[in-house]
Amino acid sequence: MSYNVVVLASGAGSLFQSLLLHQTNYRISALITDTPKALAIEIAKANKVSVEVCDVKAFTTRLQWNEALLKCIETYSPDLVVSAGFMKILGESVIEAFSGRLINIHPSLLPAFPGAHAVRDALLSGATITGTTVHYVDAGIDTGNIITQREVEIVSGDSVQTLHERIKVVERSLIVEVVESFAKGAVQ
Ligand code: GRF
Repeated sequence: MSYNVVVLASGAGSLFQSLLLHQTNYRISALITDTPKALAIEIAKANKVSVEVCDVKAFTTRLQWNEALLKCIETYSPDLVVSAGFMKILGESVIEAFSGRLINIHPSLLPAFPGAHAVRDALLSGATITGTTVHYVDAGIDTGNIITQREVEIVSGDSVQTLHERIKVVERSLIVEVVESFAKGAVQ
């Protein structure tokens, strides 16, 4: 039985695509998104991966959305859930259900620059080094235990876009390395 991974993503899905391209020690069983127009959906369809859209707008309360998301993830019985550009804060029940098996990748060297504008905030701070962090998801915003980090240099003339793209180049291989380590049982 191969190691079963579910990916949560809201946007372009380039990290999801990288994970799809490197499925040797693991298999991605589903992409779950909160965004009906996420480009990641097209990537999933092109690769014949199941897609689930769990749009918060379709629910009366955030709690109902979270419960639906939990059921949706559970349907696939994943060994690991990877949040790769999922732009919603996960609720308590999802975090508890997948404790130790739910990871996120964030484009800064946490604990520096948590939140949705990590790349912009690093650039505005005048830092010369930023990077990316893979961490467990806990109830805080980007506060879970750190699994690994990689540095990325900020160069003069960088914009949010150029810097984020350089960070994403690093992230596309880092996330594969981390998921492979989980699949081999090297991360507990
Ligand atoms: C990555 O920078 C990741 O760290 C952040 O969202 C971005 C996802 O990029 N959480 P993409 O949608 O996979 O291209």
